[in-house]
Amino acid sequence: MRIEISDKCIRCGRCVRVCPFEILEQEKPGMPVTVQRPDRCIGCGHCVAVCPASAIDHELFPAGTIHPLDRAALPSADAVELLVRARRSNRALTDMPVPEEALRRIVAAADCAPTASNARELGYTLVTDPAKLRAVTEFTLGVFDRTARLLSHPLMRPFVRFLMPDAARYLPAFRRMKQQYAEGRDPILRGATAVLFIHAPLKSRFAVEDSNLACQNASLMAEALGVSQIYMGFVLVAGRRQKGALEQLLGLDGRRVCAVLALGMPAFRFANTFERKASPVTRL
Ligand SMILES: Cc1cc2nc3c(=O)[nH]c(=O)nc-3n(C[C@H](O)[C@H](O)[C@H](O)COP(=O)(O)O)c2cc1C
Repeated sequence: MRIEISDKCIRCGRCVRVCPFEILEQEKPGMPVTVQRPDRCIGCGHCVAVCPASAIDHELFPAGTIHPLDRAALPSADAVELLVRARRSNRALTDMPVPEEALRRIVAAADCAPTASNARELGYTLVTDPAKLRAVTEFTLGVFDRTARLLSHPLMRPFVRFLMPDAARYLPAFRRMKQQYAEGRDPILRGATAVLFIHAPLKSRFAVEDSNLACQNASLMAEALGVSQIYMGFVLVAGRRQKGALEQLLGLDGRRVCAVLALGMPAFRFANTFERKASPVTRL
């Protein structure tokens, strides 16, 4: 990795303090900063982001890709709190498509999320084709239907219920969803016009964590843009039960889908926020 310190360096040592791998060194405050072991660099960009003198010439962050940060323009804590309270899984959707620019900003926000070791191995698949969306719903309902039949089979029932206690609890829901779909309603995607699949390589160690952090960024950006978003747990569960099938449907060879977010334009907005039941918080 090519990392160079130019003569604009004011020797403040900030880059030395923020680098997670001690690639930048400074013997004493005020002494020149030197680059050691640049091969260890994970490309987190902390050095270029912290430098007040634009003195770091880093191969991964060429001129034009680093922008001054106007901290005064950041949303206030009140604004952030309002956004996280206002974010709801609004399932009342219209058939209006989500504007392309909104989709672009939602995916871009997801892609700003941190990833373990800055691996940045995530991929995004945005499905808007109605036939493909139907295929996702039908795949999910198909898995649930097969599970329901197993759970109801007189010989298999005791074993399956023991092995899949969670699925047994959902048996009435599986039947209801099948009925709803037969009546022309989509109980899985709920009329979403776009679905964002977030995936990672099969061998990625933090695939689930990385994907869900990205998903939450996408979710908050969607809310800020007035786009409804619903986390698609049912699709994920079906994908887990029939390993590789969801990925095959999406053409994702060698990858694993770890987060799914349905997106759509709301028929109306929620007028109120409310106090949620507080979860226990322990101070140690
Ligand atoms: C892991 C997870 C899985 C979920 N799966 C589904 C789902 O499959 N279908 C659905 O309609 N909502 C799903 N949801 C949405 C939750 O039901 C919803 O977040 C919860 O009821 C709280 O409502 P809110 O998001 O409006 O605050 C899921 C949420 C999470 C966090």
